Amino acid sequence: MNFLNIDDVTHRQLEELLTQATNLKEQHARGKTSDGLDGRSLGMIFEKPSTRTRVSFETGMTQLGGHAVFLGPDDIHLGHGEPVKDTARALSRYVDVIMARVFDHEDVVELGEYATVPVINGLTDDAHPCQTLADLLTIRERFGGFDAEVAWVGDGNNVCQSFVLGAALVGLELTVATPEGYGVSDAVLDRAAELGTAPETTTDPETAVDGADVVYTDVWVSMGEESERAEKLSAFSNAGFQLNETLLDDQLVMHCLPAHRGEEITDAVLESDRAIVWDQAENRLHAQKGLLTYLL
Ligand code: CP
Ligand code: NVA
Repeated sequence: MNFLNIDDVTHRQLEELLTQATNLKEQHARGKTSDGLDGRSLGMIFEKPSTRTRVSFETGMTQLGGHAVFLGPDDIHLGHGEPVKDTARALSRYVDVIMARVFDHEDVVELGEYATVPVINGLTDDAHPCQTLADLLTIRERFGGFDAEVAWVGDGNNVCQSFVLGAALVGLELTVATPEGYGVSDAVLDRAAELGTAPETTTDPETAVDGADVVYTDVWVSMGEESERAEKLSAFSNAGFQLNETLLDDQLVMHCLPAHRGEEITDAVLESDRAIVWDQAENRLHAQKGLLTYLL
């Protein structure tokens, strides 16, 4: 089984996985070690930089008794010296699971097709399902379930698209505000409707945050979009998409991180008690340990 999109698991599997993550988190807090993945190896392919994904997967494997191999953009032949499918087949002969952070989503799909071990999407231009696992775990901890209203205020790309599908799976009430031209794809909205409910969509951040319990944002310029920087910054700031004290009331604030203070969020909001971003970041570790044990 691969984990390339959050809807690769059913609602029931997702709940089981989150429960497993909570159990592992509690064990970890009690200082209990686990040898569940003793002798197992994870190959981690990175075409883009990462702090949270890299460190949480690597430490997660160690805490489970296994081992992770970091494969950065200059370390392996993926995509340039060797076709993706050959990398998939060769790595499968060494490691027990592969995690890949790449630009083109089709590359993780091809890895998944040719690998004979599970492949996990560690972020593509289209999706970030591991982030959604941690986000749902964080919301479940805060609200004791998914009876909460969330507003997405920002770009409708990878992190948002996975969150839309995750919200549909668990029945979270979601409104997505994106500037004109930066919305979630129709395919993702249609899939959300198939899974449960498609979110409300708007181009007005104020409408979205009104009545919400949580407001979630992401950077305006994602990795690989550097050439669009000036255009995107002006589109998002002119449309009032910054999370600041004027836009917000008393909502909690989520951010997948890294954050660009002064762009999508102010320093004051990020540093305030309303920001639950460090819980989200920590939960990457516990959620992915749940995922790794589930897949293996
Ligand atoms: N949120 C997230 O995936 O962070 P990194 O880019 O640091 O891995
Ligand atoms: N949307 C951001 C998320 C980083 C975790 C990016 O793709 O750069």
